[in-house]
Amino acid sequence: MTDTTSLPCDPGPDDPLVNFQGKTPYDDYVHASVLSSLQQPLTNDPNEMPFLVTTQVMELWLTLLVHEWRAAQDALVKDDHECAMEALRRSITAHHALNDSIRPIARMTPAQFNGFREAFGAASGFQSAKYRQMEFLLGHKSRSLMNPQRADPTAYAELEELLNQPSLYDSTLAYLHRRGLPVPEHVLERDVTAPYEADPDVEEVWRQIYAGPQKDPLLDLGEALTDIAELVLRWRGDHLLATRRAMGAKSGSGGSSGVAWLEDRAARSVFPELWTVRGRV
Ligand code: HEM
Repeated sequence: MTDTTSLPCDPGPDDPLVNFQGKTPYDDYVHASVLSSLQQPLTNDPNEMPFLVTTQVMELWLTLLVHEWRAAQDALVKDDHECAMEALRRSITAHHALNDSIRPIARMTPAQFNGFREAFGAASGFQSAKYRQMEFLLGHKSRSLMNPQRADPTAYAELEELLNQPSLYDSTLAYLHRRGLPVPEHVLERDVTAPYEADPDVEEVWRQIYAGPQKDPLLDLGEALTDIAELVLRWRGDHLLATRRAMGAKSGSGGSSGVAWLEDRAARSVFPELWTVRGRV
């Protein structure tokens, strides 16, 4: 019979290291102790912790998405197609993880949500600076939606930088132009602080790509962007459904009309010509 009381105390040559001065190298690198100190629920309600952790996890995925889209954009500016595609592909897997991460809170009943809703007062995901950065990179620019960050100079400056820069889509169109496609001057010179609006000439550019050879790397780029657009629309749809389940037509903690406001937001197209072109090929 195995003696379970005499497990080896001293590590052998094949065992992991266990003696460290101070914190483990893992904690130095991952800051796990900092991360796990950040869950500070305001109630004892059992549904609050899943809500808080899910929100924090989503913030981390948003951080990664913004990082990857900026990397993709930098690569496009340098005409480095492969590097841009790698960043976009990494962002697509991260976006799947973002979308999956809503699961722990996607089916809350109104009574469950009410159990802790009062405690967080006027807090709302609408005030997420990282989400706003993500939207700006998609081309959904809005100076007024930066206002929640007005009293936070660092967060405001980061948003202002992205507001004034071309979006990921603007950079894509400039890249297509350099690759010889007829992206019109008025699109290349557009006011990048304004929301991107669909343009028939851009649709024609994508039509030429989509009607051409199916192994064209530019078509791969179009499909990667379409994957991203679809994942963004799915996130918005899933968030909207979770909201509808948890609070019906009540107004939002952030002061909006709630579901009605989110429905309008969810209806906005992402990279619009990549969708409309499909009716023309
Ligand atoms: C079931 C739980 C949730 C409910 C009931 C809910 C509800 C709402 C509501 C009503 C709004 C509209 C703004 C307002 O008046 O507050 C909103 C916006 C938003 N929520 Fe949530 N939310 C939930 C979970 C989350 C989570 C986990 C995140 C992750 C970060 C999140 C991120 C956002 C974002 C980014 C917006 C702004 C969307 C935009 O600007 O278009 N929400 N939410």
